[in-house]
Amino acid sequence: MTQSPGQGNALDNLLTESRTFPPSDEFAAQANAQPALYEEAKADREAFWAKQAERLHWDTKWDQVLDWSGAPFAKWFVGGKLNVAYNCVDRHVESGHGDQVAIHWEGEPGDSRAITYAELQREVSKAANALTSLGIGAEDRVAIYMPMVPEAIFAMLACARVGAMHSVVFGGFSAEALRTRIEDSSCRLVITTDGQYRRGTPAPLKPAVDEAVAGAPSVEKVIVVKRTDTEVAWTDKDVWWHELVDSQSDQHTPEAFDSEHPLFILYTSGTTGKPKGILHTSGGYLTQASYTHNYVFDLKPDTDVYWCTADIGWVTGHSYIVYGPLSNRVTQVVYEGTPNTPNEGRHWDIVQKYGVSIYYTAPTLIRTFMKWGADIPAKYDLSSLRVLGSVGEPINPEAWIWYRENVGGGKAPIVDTWWQTETGAIMISPLPGVISAKPGSAQQPLPGIGAKVVNDEGVEVPAGGGGYLVLDEPWPAMLRGIWGDEERYRDTYWSRFGEQGFYFAGDGAKYDADGDIWLLGRVDDVMNVSGHRISTTEVESALVSHPTVAEAAVVGASDDTTGQGIVAFVILRGGAGADAGGADAIKALRDHVAKEIGPIAKPRQIMVVPELPKTRSGKIMRRLLRDVAENRAVGDVTTLADSSVMDLISAGLQSGK
Ligand code: WT7
Repeated sequence: MTQSPGQGNALDNLLTESRTFPPSDEFAAQANAQPALYEEAKADREAFWAKQAERLHWDTKWDQVLDWSGAPFAKWFVGGKLNVAYNCVDRHVESGHGDQVAIHWEGEPGDSRAITYAELQREVSKAANALTSLGIGAEDRVAIYMPMVPEAIFAMLACARVGAMHSVVFGGFSAEALRTRIEDSSCRLVITTDGQYRRGTPAPLKPAVDEAVAGAPSVEKVIVVKRTDTEVAWTDKDVWWHELVDSQSDQHTPEAFDSEHPLFILYTSGTTGKPKGILHTSGGYLTQASYTHNYVFDLKPDTDVYWCTADIGWVTGHSYIVYGPLSNRVTQVVYEGTPNTPNEGRHWDIVQKYGVSIYYTAPTLIRTFMKWGADIPAKYDLSSLRVLGSVGEPINPEAWIWYRENVGGGKAPIVDTWWQTETGAIMISPLPGVISAKPGSAQQPLPGIGAKVVNDEGVEVPAGGGGYLVLDEPWPAMLRGIWGDEERYRDTYWSRFGEQGFYFAGDGAKYDADGDIWLLGRVDDVMNVSGHRISTTEVESALVSHPTVAEAAVVGASDDTTGQGIVAFVILRGGAGADAGGADAIKALRDHVAKEIGPIAKPRQIMVVPELPKTRSGKIMRRLLRDVAENRAVGDVTTLADSSVMDLISAGLQSGK
């Protein structure tokens, strides 16, 4: 392995974990998933996926399940036609469930709104008519830069309804990050809000859009939802949502699009400074989102109340708030704010208030809850919870056990779901009711999915062995490329094991003695901070774009709460001034990164150093910097061009320079 994964000591514990938790008889008896599902998929994979696609309404049935002749570009359900929004909304109204609540929306200040499927249909129809009135149609790109308000979901579904592609940009990203994403896919429209609530106070959002749009000539219009009622500057491109959308008819006839019609682009960090626009299409994506949501979370649409705590700015929000759940006629909670507003019991208050039965969150938040203390969840009635999920990074067994005991009442099964923006939907996860859970392991590829751990040569490693995670069969929700960059798509995912035709996930993994898969973190220059992917290069470019910085190297250092924390080493420019390494200057650098990328990319720590450790070919040895960042003895320095560099760095840091 080229790089040791994050998590440091937690990882050692993780790999010696041996407890298992078999499903209870009661759970197994009522579970959507049964052991036969694995057999069925193994017997005939394509027939299996065709059966899953029948979960959806198709206006025209496909004539071929999979066309892999243009590999690595897949076509699923070839010739089929469907409307994704119709599948998530209208068909539930038509089947007599118009009065069922689709979304229990909970605003951060405590306002709330229950939206039934009938109402969702009217809202999405109005928004679709509004898009059409602006001339937005099939394959146009629409940027959505919004907090977790209902209109964000209406906007996504309205795009899907008219065949436009949304590109949701997380509301925590900077104006500059928004601008580059708008520009990369030439968005014609931006949908945003005036502001957003964050930790109890309204913060402006539209100024970032104004700044981004000023440098993005493709944008013709900006639709603004009034959320915080903060005053905003107004340009002639701007139009209020309540004026444009609310004046539209609430009737709209959805058009059926090809199964391979593009549905959305979602940007994610790669190993270079430029984010990748991951492209997803319609039929295969919705099939797998719907299938996985049904079986992994054991959803019972008539009785469950589901809550996924993600933001729609990430793929989890796309697949497990919008498309998977709504296609399955979920009743779900959508929460706008932070987990400690007004206090650290907010999530448990919401679980109790709505009787949440399925709760899906990230390890970083579970570790934060642990830090806040078990007495907080203990104050609430959490007995409605029956399935718990985890996603975003490896979950350490301590956090897993804490989650099960203090949130799941010592009995709710936990599903540790491994997947990526690129995979579109869950790939590796235990099925509750079927698989005996092991804390810390995502365990088995789902029925219909092929995943393996292989060595450098692409040969599968034996039980107990470690290597790289690959996906050895195409899957319905797989990405259909990187927007505008076919070569990068081939290079990034398909060249590493090109001979074998495996998809390279970028994660290290190992098999335990039972053949279960344990994910070990990224093996490339991608960090995982609170479950968010951030590339080291992206942060380095942000740092060197500051006038005082000559060179920068960034590493992900293990962090008890966030999984990894960003630690930067910078060399200052000559003439940067005596004070350039002082506390104010460091703060200025951290703020600069926040401005360039977003607050989530702010380094936890910045160290000013005289040199960076490099190999003879000039490659920065991040492994050594990680040793420094994690306060370890520095490892083998023999491949450094100048082996005294590490002494220089350590000496400088000790003298506090
Ligand atoms: C990377 C993908 C999938 C939605 C959220 C993140 C890591 C994700 C797990 C897990 C271990 C995990 C991997 C992966 N990851 N889930 N259950 N166990 N690692 O999506 O931003 O595309 O990041 O997150 O390293 O490659 P993403």
